[in-house]
Amino acid sequence: MTLRFVLNGAKTELDAHPMARLLDVLREECALTGSKEGCGEGECGACTVLVNGEPVCSCIIPVAHVEGAAVLTIEGLGGDHPLQHHFMNEVGAQCGICTPGMIMAAMALGPAPTLEDVKTALAGNLCRCTGYAAIYRAVMKWRGLEAPPSMVAE
Ligand code: FES
Ligand code: FES
Repeated sequence: MTLRFVLNGAKTELDAHPMARLLDVLREECALTGSKEGCGEGECGACTVLVNGEPVCSCIIPVAHVEGAAVLTIEGLGGDHPLQHHFMNEVGAQCGICTPGMIMAAMALGPAPTLEDVKTALAGNLCRCTGYAAIYRAVMKWRGLEAPPSMVAE
């Protein structure tokens, strides 16, 4: 099946089986390996990308679902996005497997989010390294929010 969609701002056309996982097509056909596979079952969020601005687990989405859609992956942020810098500054990444998914999920936050909004937005993204405080702190600082004292780095 020939698929047409917009990938990181560029019109893209490729041949793929319609039931191929979006994650596999991104990583293997498009050479975009920033999106990671953790569980492969839609439970960890490591593979999160935005489809028409909504975060989705690309490991459980057949690529046919993005026909005509706009897909944004971590590579689409260009590597110099302010949120990426906040993740580095706050040590919101350790092994880094969850980080692209965390960042993409955070990109979908609405205006003026609260800490609870941040936690809700990232509720589907698991991290086994950081304990989450540094991740929440990075997202909050990116959005100009004050981190509560319990989240301030020592
Ligand atoms: S790899 Fe997709 S949700 Fe875990
Ligand atoms: S930094 Fe290792 S899983 Fe999050």
